[in-house]
Amino acid sequence: MDAPDRYAVFGNPIAHSQSPRIHALFARQTGQNMSYEALLAPLDGFAATVGAFAAHGGRGANVTVPFKEEAFRLATRRTERAAAAGAVNTLSFAGGDILGDNTDGAGLVRDLKANLGCDVKGRRVLLLGAGGAARGAVLPLLQEGPAELFIANRTAEKAARLAVEFAARAGAGPQPEGGGYAELGGRRFDLVINATAAGLAAAALPLPPGVFAAQCVVYEMLYGRDTPFMAQARAGGAARIAAGLGMLVEQAAEAFYVWRGLRPATGPVLLALQASQH
Ligand code: ATR
Repeated sequence: MDAPDRYAVFGNPIAHSQSPRIHALFARQTGQNMSYEALLAPLDGFAATVGAFAAHGGRGANVTVPFKEEAFRLATRRTERAAAAGAVNTLSFAGGDILGDNTDGAGLVRDLKANLGCDVKGRRVLLLGAGGAARGAVLPLLQEGPAELFIANRTAEKAARLAVEFAARAGAGPQPEGGGYAELGGRRFDLVINATAAGLAAAALPLPPGVFAAQCVVYEMLYGRDTPFMAQARAGGAARIAAGLGMLVEQAAEAFYVWRGLRPATGPVLLALQASQH
């Protein structure tokens, strides 16, 4: 057999990345002759490390914390969703070109729709946070045609700016709104997505009571821990609460599709990951 096509994920730290396992399962399932490894890039040496990988035959790479903005700058061409996100998590090397894509938001939407049965269309959506994780979700959410999209952030101006920036991309749909948590008083949402890093610090969010409508679906992008936000959603009567492991698998499947032109079945892979979480 020919040598496998090489792929890798770059980050710092990277040792605990689940991506090699996910892509190995995808490759086995679809019969693709490829390898996928986790590679540590020095904090001041991302471009050089990725460049060496491409020069040694690397076909593509995923990029994770803290290099997604640097990957955006490294790309010589970018997809629309990567340009909108201002960050890149998927690189493809072709000739001297580096194509930058961002599959995070598509992964979120696909997890919501395909795995959780939650359509975004027609829903009142609240997106919490205005950092990189939130920014990547805005365009894919808008493209689904929500009834409303409110971006709320601790630093209110950041959310307001994000809303203005994306208003031009909202098309015929409703304009996104943005502001602080205080502006949520009296409003109700059908889908609430936490894209803040508050859970990492075990911090709750200043959400007013009543923000979760009956039948509300709540999505916490962090996974592997029960965050204060999830407890708030339970106390607020949310109908369904999901964490971001599905998004991780779906963004990987979308990257696999970008590279290989095949869509792996994500269900069995998600089950395998869930099984080893407990
Ligand atoms: P990421 O790439 O994960 O989005 P980031 O760009 O550093 O990381 O953004 C972190 C997000 O979490 C921001 O929206 C941040 O709010 P600020 O913009 O006000 O800093 C939010 N965040 C972090 N800790 C938080 C906390 N304890 N409470 C509320 N929001 C928090």
